[in-house]
Amino acid sequence: MKTVLVTGGAGYIGSHMVKELHRKNYNTIVLDNLDYGHREAVNTGIFIQGDLGNKGLMETIFKTHPIDAVMHFSAYAYVGESVLNPRKYYQNNVANTLNLLDAMLNFNVKKFIFSSSCATYGEPIHIPITEDHPQKPINPYGYTKFMVEQILRDYSTAYHLHYVSLRYFNAAGADPDGEIGEDHDPETHLIPLTLRAAAEASGLKKTKSGEPVVLKVFGNDYQTKDGTCIRDYIHVVDLASAHILALERMMAGGKSDVFNLGNGEGYSVKEVIDTASEVSGIDIPFEYVDRRQGDPAALVGSSAKAKEKLGWKPRYATLSQIVETAWNWHKKHPEGFKSRKTY
Ligand code: UFG
Repeated sequence: MKTVLVTGGAGYIGSHMVKELHRKNYNTIVLDNLDYGHREAVNTGIFIQGDLGNKGLMETIFKTHPIDAVMHFSAYAYVGESVLNPRKYYQNNVANTLNLLDAMLNFNVKKFIFSSSCATYGEPIHIPITEDHPQKPINPYGYTKFMVEQILRDYSTAYHLHYVSLRYFNAAGADPDGEIGEDHDPETHLIPLTLRAAAEASGLKKTKSGEPVVLKVFGNDYQTKDGTCIRDYIHVVDLASAHILALERMMAGGKSDVFNLGNGEGYSVKEVIDTASEVSGIDIPFEYVDRRQGDPAALVGSSAKAKEKLGWKPRYATLSQIVETAWNWHKKHPEGFKSRKTY
């Protein structure tokens, strides 16, 4: 049985990855500092609370465990915060990744799967975005992912590190069993905020003020079909399955590579709200407010390469399917992971 070190394995995408790895009979070791992750999100394998910046700990982990490959999810991911506090982002997302790579090379572990982002492309000049689209990030978060991608290319040439960078579009949805899901604090993503508004409007979730929170839609004056921004939503379990295929390909000797992971279908913010209303049966209160700075009008990715080379087939191709699994999680856990004990 192969063993995978999953950094950030208690986070949203990392925890779904751990569950999928176990379903496919891998051993996992999760390393997470629990800054944003949830201990309850990891129900299998070994869990280590710690920081990638701790060189001694990294050495101990690689010395103690027979690690075959590393999947690296741990990163800060608030775009707005990265503009205000870039050193937090470069320190954690870049410098700590260098520590991790150092430890790997020191212990001759040479298989690495990296959570990259469509944020490395910046403002798209064509849609759908293919992997050869120019990479010109427009914020420090995007730069951190771009820089690590470059580091991986150089390490691959110099040290024969074997890597796959996966550029995610908008990760969404939840574990179909409803056991784990998306629980960020603060939450900034559209789908969980929309479903939170639904839960509050229906009384399923209580608000501090007693009044349901009205979802804010950032701009309705974009050059899109209904004036709201368009994004490509990709189910978190489909993301996880692509990682397994990338790992298997690497284990079979496939070369280092880069893949987009998206559905190739764009949905507007308004369509997300309409779908969430249909799925939940709740009229979701929303209002239009000013644009959020730095939001491109449309981001849609081509995943043709992942489908062709990895044989990847997303299972949750429609927005309704994605929102249904997320709503299932929200209904079961209206207060997020903290409410888990009551079920
Ligand atoms: N939106 C709203 N209201 C909200 C939250 C979001 O209208 O309360 C809109 C945004 O303006 C955007 C869309 O919903 O048009 C999606 O926003 P998210 O914050 O859910 O996701 P982003 O597209 O901004 O971010 C995603 C990833 C980031 C990545 C970025 C790349 O979550 O990690 O794409 O641009 F950096």
